[in-house]
Amino acid sequence: MKAAIFTQYGAPEVIQIVDTEKPSPKPDEVLVKIEASSVTRADTMIRQGVPKFGRLFLGLIKPKNKALGTGFSGVVEAVGSQVTKFRIGSVVFGEKLFSEGSNAEYLCMSEDLVIAHKPKSISHSEAAPICDGFLTSYNFLKDIAKIKSGQHVLVNGASGSLGSAAIQLAKIMGAKVTGVCSAKNIDFVLALGADEVLDYTKVKLDELSCTYDVVYDTVGKLSYKTFKTLIGSNGLFMTPVLNGEVLWHMLWRPNKVKFAATGVKKTKELKRLFEELVQFFEQGKLHTNIDNTFKLSEIKYAHQYVETGRKVGNIVIKNS
Ligand SMILES: NC(=O)c1ccc[n+]([C@@H]2O[C@H](COP(=O)([O-])OP(=O)(O)OC[C@H]3O[C@@H](n4cnc5c(N)ncnc54)[C@H](OP(=O)(O)O)[C@@H]3O)[C@@H](O)[C@H]2O)c1
Repeated sequence: MKAAIFTQYGAPEVIQIVDTEKPSPKPDEVLVKIEASSVTRADTMIRQGVPKFGRLFLGLIKPKNKALGTGFSGVVEAVGSQVTKFRIGSVVFGEKLFSEGSNAEYLCMSEDLVIAHKPKSISHSEAAPICDGFLTSYNFLKDIAKIKSGQHVLVNGASGSLGSAAIQLAKIMGAKVTGVCSAKNIDFVLALGADEVLDYTKVKLDELSCTYDVVYDTVGKLSYKTFKTLIGSNGLFMTPVLNGEVLWHMLWRPNKVKFAATGVKKTKELKRLFEELVQFFEQGKLHTNIDNTFKLSEIKYAHQYVETGRKVGNIVIKNS
């Protein structure tokens, strides 16, 4: 089968498409023929080996895990002897973490990991990126911020994968939502359900007079001065992007400043959030925005596009 791999850290050109052995399912695993997979900002950072401290886990000199991609959607082609939740022909989607990647023609994974039946109402391309923006933002909004109805949430980077998911999820949770994006994405963010949109190229966020219960900086662009102003004395700041400033303020104000790496959350907890998201999609309450689609053979161009930092929603690799 064909798979995207990288054997050294670097630019998108380090990605190779190789012929590799088709995996066989262990007793608790399903073999999935992948129809669509995601390329995320996190994938591009893993490929680059940044931030450098991440190499303590990824491999100091070169990547320990050569495979690329986590989110996928496809059809079960074979099942192990102990599999009970899926059968040959089941249409599934989910996330494969820390081993063979999803940017390939096939993957095997345990039925007990983050995998579920794909809602019929969404396409493979819409399903494959759900574990990036939606699962990450749902973890932040539900488990970390514990958003309550009526709270006012500000989402910075509202047009990205995490941001476009966060706007929709915060609305489902009954919040009043302010999205922050540039002028070209205002209509998109309003269509997601935001009550109000601020253009970061025109509005000075650190001069706003109002404060927010929760500020979720999905792109890690807000300075301490800005988020301190925005949360006032009672709000919470959270971000999925760790840098020195965030780390410093987390240590001093652990109840006011939060970071989390969703991928390292316990599988049981991730599955709980994932299954709730599946229900929202089945009910038609959530929508995946796809900015651009590439073939597996074009994956380095997908990485280049993600690295512009300008994508609106999600990037998908389609296998057929
Ligand atoms: N901790 C975790 O568990 C976890 C999980 C998944 C992802 N992440 C991280 O989350 C981050 C966000 O990923 P993503 O895919 O949602 O987005 P992304 O690709 O990093 O960002 C794209 C969007 O950001 C907007 N943007 C750029 N600069 C901005 C600014 N100064 N203010 C507001 N918006 C701005 C762009 O819109 P314009 O063109 O209009 O500026 C674009 O629509 C990444 O760093 C990723 O690594 C963390």
